[in-house]
Amino acid sequence: MQLSQRAGTVEPFHAMAFSDIAAGIERSGHRVVRLNLGEPDFGAPAAVRLAMIDAMDGRPLPYTSALGTRALRERLSWFYRTRHGVDVDPARIAVTMGGSAALDLAVAATVDAGTDVLMADPSYPCNRQIVTTFGGNPVTVPTSARTGFQLTADLVRDAWTPRTRAVMIASPSNPTGTSLSAATLASVCAVARDRGAWRIVDEIYLDLADVDRAGRRPRSVLAWDPDAIVVNSFSKSFGMTGWRLGWSVLPEALVDPVERLATNMFLSPSAPVQHAALACFTPGSLAEAEERRLELLARRALMLDGLARIGLPVACPPDGAFYAFADVSSTGLDAWTFADRALREAHVAITPGRDFGATHADTHVRLSYAASREAILEGIERLGRFVASLR
Ligand SMILES: Cc1ncc(COP(=O)(O)O)c(C=O)c1O
Repeated sequence: MQLSQRAGTVEPFHAMAFSDIAAGIERSGHRVVRLNLGEPDFGAPAAVRLAMIDAMDGRPLPYTSALGTRALRERLSWFYRTRHGVDVDPARIAVTMGGSAALDLAVAATVDAGTDVLMADPSYPCNRQIVTTFGGNPVTVPTSARTGFQLTADLVRDAWTPRTRAVMIASPSNPTGTSLSAATLASVCAVARDRGAWRIVDEIYLDLADVDRAGRRPRSVLAWDPDAIVVNSFSKSFGMTGWRLGWSVLPEALVDPVERLATNMFLSPSAPVQHAALACFTPGSLAEAEERRLELLARRALMLDGLARIGLPVACPPDGAFYAFADVSSTGLDAWTFADRALREAHVAITPGRDFGATHADTHVRLSYAASREAILEGIERLGRFVASLR
């Protein structure tokens, strides 16, 4: 029997190898400080947990509409109006199983075999794999600290091919935690739109992004590009990674095709989780989410101060998410060896750049400050001793 070509070629997360090593170290009785996790150490808001219990009262929990319950789509529409100042018809919102399914559906609905999808290098590893799975060709565009490791209109113009079908953007980004400015985001989208390409904009970390000097939150790309495809999730800002719920805001023309795809691929997102997620938008839950954003800011300061102290530069400090992308080349080790030895010798788990693209694979590592303050301080201290031993 033969595997499909796509199953044969889809790449794992290379850094998963490190999880196995970390587990082995832990089994031998040592504590590993995990600064490699892409999820916060806090759970869902209290009201959401109660609402989930409520959903377990024996009521039937049938499939919902493939695009989600009316109630949740309306609540999300309310969120866009009040948080981002944009009007989104609830009919254009598709509730999905995490931002992951929203990305799958966006690519399935827009990318054909042989078409190109532009994305920054470095960027979220799954994007390359999803595009390849649906027959597209991921065109990874090398970026540097000069552009915050993000695409610019010029980079997009230079990388454009006659086959470009879509541009994928994440702001703030994984692995760098950096955002495009509103002006740059608008100009990147304008270039793609003028050339007839889709804009798939991942805002999964947007509600963990910094406010400006006047205390205003960054707005959704929909404020500048109402027809962008937006991907978002309850995973990161509401601490609900394992609950598997996200959503997409779709341009009118994609609603019906995405509904057909979602029906055939998933039938519907989880009914009880959709019910519970309604409680994310109570004043109490929103306040809890904001407290957590502020806590992550404090953790970021610990992480950045620590990395500066031990001589691992972060050329472009994060302004959102919970990642710092640090250059380890001054240690004389390539990033993979650095991460491998940091784990084996200092018992600190970090993520080497390789998963996020080729450009910074040898020089950079991603550190997550979603871990507790204690873990960050201890991790930095251990890494500091390890780095000193290399110099
Ligand atoms: C940039 C980005 N997009 C999407 C996802 C998918 O998240 P989820 O499926 O949990 O919503 C992640 C997860 O780490 C991510 O970092």
